[in-house]
Formats: sequence, C-alpha cells, structure tokens
Amino acid sequence: MKRLVAVGVLCLAADGCDDRQAWQAPDPTLARMQTQRRADPYGATRAFSDGKVMRVPPRGSVPVDDDTDAPPPPVTRELLLLGQRRFEATCAVCHGVTGDGDTVVATKMSLRAPPSLLDPDNLARSREELFVYATAGYGLMPGYADMLPRDERWAVVAYVQALQLSRRARLDELPPALRDRVVREAR
Ligand code: HEC
Repeated sequence: MKRLVAVGVLCLAADGCDDRQAWQAPDPTLARMQTQRRADPYGATRAFSDGKVMRVPPRGSVPVDDDTDAPPPPVTRELLLLGQRRFEATCAVCHGVTGDGDTVVATKMSLRAPPSLLDPDNLARSREELFVYATAGYGLMPGYADMLPRDERWAVVAYVQALQLSRRARLDELPPALRDRVVREAR
C-alpha cells in the first residue's frame, strides 16, 4: 500500500502522467506508437535551456558511425590475422571457428540457426555484400558496427573469404611446402 501511495505521488509530480488513462489491452495495430507524444530530433522543447530536442554529444565523445563508403583496406597478412582474431571473438560463437555453422548456439536456436558461411549461397557473395551484413546485420542477426570499427569489419570479411577459399583450394594451388604438409597430415 505504501508503495502504491508513493507511485501515486510520483505520478502527480511528474509531467505527463495526468493524461494517463485506465489500462487498456494493447492495440494490436501498434497505431499508438505513431500517435504517442514524442520529441522529434529536429523539434523544439522547453525541457532544455537551448530549446532544442537534439543534444550536443559531451566533449570527448567517440563517433561510432564511420565512413562506410571509403574503399576497403588492402588485404595483407596483418589484416587477415586481425580478421581471424575478431572473427573468433565476435562471429565464431554462432558461425563456428571454421565458419561451418557447427556450434552449440546453432543447436539451441529455434528460429533460424546461424548458417554455414561456407555453403554455396555464401560462397557466391561478394565482399561488399558480406561487409554490409557485418555492418548492418542480416535478418535475425544484428549488425556489428558498434562493436567492430570499419577496418576491423573489412578484416573479418577478408578472413571469412580466406575460410571460404580454404574450402575450395586445389592441392596444386598451394605453395609446395604447404602442399607437402597437407599430404603428410592427410595420410
Ligand atoms: C548471435 C549469433 C550470431 C553472431 C555472433 C553472428 N551471426 Fe551472422 N548470422 C546469424 C544468424 C541467426 C543468421 C541468419 C539470419 C536470418 O536468416 O534471419 C546470420 C547470417 C549471417 C550471414 C548471411 C548468411 C546466410 O546464409 O544467410 C552472414 C554473411 C553472417 N551472418 C556473417 C556474420 C559475421 C561476419 C559475424 C561476425 C561479425 C556474424 N555473422 C556474427 C547469427 C550470428
């Protein structure tokens, strides 16, 4: 009871509570989300002394959106190694360390399991397409732009393409030392 009274007092004190109505079943059309009171980014408000809805980021803020349209960094050994580290830390939990989708997460997901990145559909994808998915997400998968800066996403893409290539490479395409090692280990 005490708690109810406290909520009531808070509600009286807070602006905007007065137009509350009795509880109603949620509107299945979600029209309320369009008609609700809201502050638009470029609108005016009395809530802040400068009268603007949009806030200036605090000094020292680090931008999270980067220049996605700039050309990808050149593929070097360092970039691939960075891609491997980021892929293994960020993507492998769902898509597997080799990208084949064989993970515990995949066995537990009931909607769509993380697919193999080595299946024919994915082998046909361009690096730009893979980059867009890593940046903005794909279907149920969220984007990773907040977690991985632009160059790291390109590094991941380069590494995914290396994993894909490793599945298709012919023995006679390998450098001799590597070819001998594969033959030895496959015996
Ligand atoms: C939390 C699990 C999870 C993580 C982590 C994850 N993914 Fe995914 N990914 C998925 C799921 C699930 C799908 C399928 C989504 C759908 O079809 O709705 C998907 C789809 C994709 C696809 C499209 C493949 C296809 O066949 O449809 C690509 C490419 C991809 N992910 C790459 C990545 C990369 C690169 C990373 C790391 C930066 C990553 N994913 C991290 C779960 C994940």
